[in-house]
Amino acid sequence: MKVTVVGAGNVGATCADVIAQKDIVHEVVLLDIKEGIAEGKSLDVWQTSPINHYDTRMTGSTNDYSKTAGSDVVVITSGLPRKPGMSRDDLIATNAGIVKAVTENVIKHSPNAIIIVVSNPLDVMTYCAFLTAKVDSSRVFGMAGILDTARYRAFLAEALNVSPKDIQAVLMGGHGDTMVPLPRYTTVSGIPVTELISREKLDAIVDRTKKGGGELVNLMGTSAWYAPGAAAAQMVEAVVKDQKRIFPCCAWLQGQYGLKDIYLGVPVKLGRKGIEEIIELKLNQEEKALLSSSAKAVKEVMEVLDNMNVQTVVK
Ligand code: LAC
Repeated sequence: MKVTVVGAGNVGATCADVIAQKDIVHEVVLLDIKEGIAEGKSLDVWQTSPINHYDTRMTGSTNDYSKTAGSDVVVITSGLPRKPGMSRDDLIATNAGIVKAVTENVIKHSPNAIIIVVSNPLDVMTYCAFLTAKVDSSRVFGMAGILDTARYRAFLAEALNVSPKDIQAVLMGGHGDTMVPLPRYTTVSGIPVTELISREKLDAIVDRTKKGGGELVNLMGTSAWYAPGAAAAQMVEAVVKDQKRIFPCCAWLQGQYGLKDIYLGVPVKLGRKGIEEIIELKLNQEEKALLSSSAKAVKEVMEVLDNMNVQTVVK
C-alpha cells in the first residue's frame, strides 16, 4: 500500500511520521511546494526506522506529483494554518485555491485514491476537494471528528482521573465552535459519563472542546499538529487495514439527519472503500437543534466557496 501526504508542514509531517511508525504501509510519499522541505523531513523520519523498528519507506517530493502515482490513500494537509484572532473560515480564500490545485494533481496521478482532507476550514475544504475530484463521496472525506473527540476525551480523562483509553465518545457537526459533542453518547468503559461527572463540569468540558483548536492557536501562535496529524493517521490506518472502525468524520450528507448536499461531521464506518456507512443516531430535540445550527454555519461558508469560482492550473 502507498500513502501520500500532501503538505510537509507540522500537520503533514506529523501525520507521515505517525503512519510510518505504525508500520502499516509499504511507502509514504510526503510532498510540499517548498523546495527540499518534504525531502528533508521524509529523510529525517526514515532515519528513525532503525530506532522505532518499521519498514515503511519514506519518499519526499518538491511538487512532483508523479512520485505520488498510484497512491491508495492521499491525505491533504496543504494550506495556511490559523493565527491568533482568526477563525478557520478566514482561511477560505487562500486555502480553497490550494486545495483545488492539490486535488487536481492528486486525482490525475492516483485516480483511485481515497482522499482525506485536513486543511481548514475543514468541512468546506472537503467539499472543495469533492467538487474537484469528481469521484464518489465515499472516497472524499474530512478529518475533524477524531481530533475533536480526542480533545473531549482527553479533558474528560483529566477531570475524572481515568485512562483516556476508556473514554468513548461521539461528536457531530462542523469543525468549528458550533461542533456538537454528545454527552448522552459518552461513556467511561460503558458507564454513562453523566453518572460520573456533574452537569456543570461536563458543560465546561464541552465548551472547552468546542474552542479546543483556538486554545492551542492562542498558546502557540499557530494551529495544532500532534493531535491533528495522529487523528489523520488513524483514519489512514482504518482504511488500509479495512478495519471498519466507527469514527466521526466529515462526510457528504444526502438526506441523513434531514440534511442534504452538505459536508458535516457524523459517525461513519471507515474501511478499505472509505466511508462504507453513515450511521444515523436518533437525536433528541436539543441535539437536533444544535446540529442544524452547526449545519447552517457550514452551509454559509460552502456558499462562499460556491460563489468564489476558484481557478487553478494543473501542473
Ligand atoms: C485544530 C485545527 C487543526 O482544530 O483545526 O487544531
